[in-house]
Amino acid sequence: MKIGFIGMGIMGSRMAANLLKKGHELVVYNRTKDKAKALLDQGASWAETPAELGSRVNIVFTMLSRPDAVAEVALLGKHSFLETLLPNSLWVDCSTVNPSFSQLMANEAKARRVRFLDAPVAGSKGPAEQAQLLFYVGGDKADVDAARPFLESMGKAVFPMGGHGMGSAMKMVNNILLGEVMVSFTEALAFGESVGLTKQAIFDTLAASPVMAPFLNFKRKKFEADDYSVEFPLRWMHKDLHLATETAFETGAALPGMSAAKELYALAMREGFGDEDFIAVYKLLSGKKT
Ligand SMILES: NC(=O)c1ccc[n+]([C@@H]2O[C@H](COP(=O)([O-])OP(=O)(O)OC[C@H]3O[C@@H](n4cnc5c(N)ncnc54)[C@H](OP(=O)(O)O)[C@@H]3O)[C@@H](O)[C@H]2O)c1
Repeated sequence: MKIGFIGMGIMGSRMAANLLKKGHELVVYNRTKDKAKALLDQGASWAETPAELGSRVNIVFTMLSRPDAVAEVALLGKHSFLETLLPNSLWVDCSTVNPSFSQLMANEAKARRVRFLDAPVAGSKGPAEQAQLLFYVGGDKADVDAARPFLESMGKAVFPMGGHGMGSAMKMVNNILLGEVMVSFTEALAFGESVGLTKQAIFDTLAASPVMAPFLNFKRKKFEADDYSVEFPLRWMHKDLHLATETAFETGAALPGMSAAKELYALAMREGFGDEDFIAVYKLLSGKKT
């Protein structure tokens, strides 16, 4: 099976590298070619356009920033890959997008006799590098089974969630929680420090209680070193919460707490923290500038 991978950002470059390491033959494309250099040096082959990539593979993975980027590369752009993929090929979209967008892409793929899965991931830069991602997958069981060996080359677990869009729905649930917990934690941290507690005392004490979410332990070193270098860009957290509000509008769900958190990420972006790790919302709440 010849694999194509589109999107060589923080996540995609590391996921594609793991496919290569497992010995899969890989064709890659990225809007900015420089970012594919390491993979090309390791033996991946380059396609000049998404359309060229589509004509050379039977399975395409996409790991792109937002729904508009996915739509452009897949079907709206001049050289989109859905126009060149052979019938019965499989497209696996790992980007974080909203469920109704995934359903739309599944329909567009079906109209071209291409099979589709939404398969967004939980886990950030480190887990992507170590092939420890979790995949939340929406689509037909036979397609999940076909994709599983490749997903398992990039992650540690595959969770079939139901039909098209249900992988994206689960990812929204995941990131609503992640985004709100980060805001709650950084608010409490900044409050504690304002009274005179140290970050170390706060982390040590909370880590010994069931109150703190376990993922915050992975961010502890960054908080203590005031290291905001990017793992999960703050602007993508804001995007994900925005997409969740779109979905809530469609379903009638209410997201009052998340909406407040989302606006804090918007304010953090206005302060210039959008390309930093999403822990940088702490700078907004603590009044730190660097
Ligand atoms: N980082 C994380 O921890 C993490 C974890 C889970 C899920 N995610 C999700 O995974 C996806 C990718 O995240 P990332 O962190 O890898 O982001 P990233 O580093 O910003 O990469 C984004 C990718 O999208 C491409 N892109 C953006 N707009 C495009 C367009 N109009 N046409 C073609 N390509 C376009 C970029 O190409 P260029 O290189 O040319 O800019 C790049 O390859 C996002 O949906 C994000 O929410 C991220």
